[in-house]
Amino acid sequence: MEKIVILTGAGISAESGLGTFRDEGGLWAAHRIEDVATPEGFARDPKLVQNFYNMRRAQAREAEPNAAHYALAKLEREFTGEVTVVTQNVDGLHERAGSQNVMHMHGFLEGALCAGCGHRWPAPLNMKITDRCPKCKEVATRPDIVWFGEMPYDMEEIWDHLRSCDYFVSVGTSGNVYPAAAFVQDAARHGAITIELNLEPSAVVSDFAESHCGKASDIVPEWVEKMLSVRR
Ligand code: OAD
Repeated sequence: MEKIVILTGAGISAESGLGTFRDEGGLWAAHRIEDVATPEGFARDPKLVQNFYNMRRAQAREAEPNAAHYALAKLEREFTGEVTVVTQNVDGLHERAGSQNVMHMHGFLEGALCAGCGHRWPAPLNMKITDRCPKCKEVATRPDIVWFGEMPYDMEEIWDHLRSCDYFVSVGTSGNVYPAAAFVQDAARHGAITIELNLEPSAVVSDFAESHCGKASDIVPEWVEKMLSVRR
């Protein structure tokens, strides 16, 4: 059975109205990573961090999946083999488009995490610094987001997928953040055909066998149709 692993980044949700991080006017132009995406930033000013993710959670709930998300869900439904989406995105648009096999390596806006005991539960729309963990009752509620300096989720399982896939496809990611930026090298070393689909060549484009530039809503459905035309 053939196996496809698809890594997605902020670019796949750009046409759903959610800003990317490093494009002009992106999230990291308006907010300092140290302030809103590190455990130290959260310890310094939890309210600022809660507000940043409350805003992003509200935006994500308003957003709709676009043609690229729907195409990947269709691929999972109709491909004769196995399709796994490994996403760096925290917006939930893959699931809302119908993808079921999705791994959230950088966490999920709809999750709350207790910084004290590690318990996870569904996030309210507006998380507050006074929220208590429903399990240990400590006031230590944080967004279930992987911050810089923290270990991404499910890494063992993700490496296993990368080492056993036939195709590794990267969509809408700039190739600046590790370990995700190194996935292509690992998959290629283990024999996968590697394809990049992005608006512009990423920082790691030279590691891919093939690269296609364009909007995700155009090039992802095109690539999916090509795959399905021979493997449905
Ligand atoms: P970036 O903002 O770094 O990169 C987005 C990529 O998407 C860029 O290469 C754009 O050219 C491309 N892009 C923009 N619009 C597009 C479109 N319509 N179609 C296709 N591609 C498009 O976002 P990521 O690579 O996802 O981590 O960033 C990786 C991680 O850095 C994020 O998960 C986040 C961030 O810091 C954490 O917060 C831990």
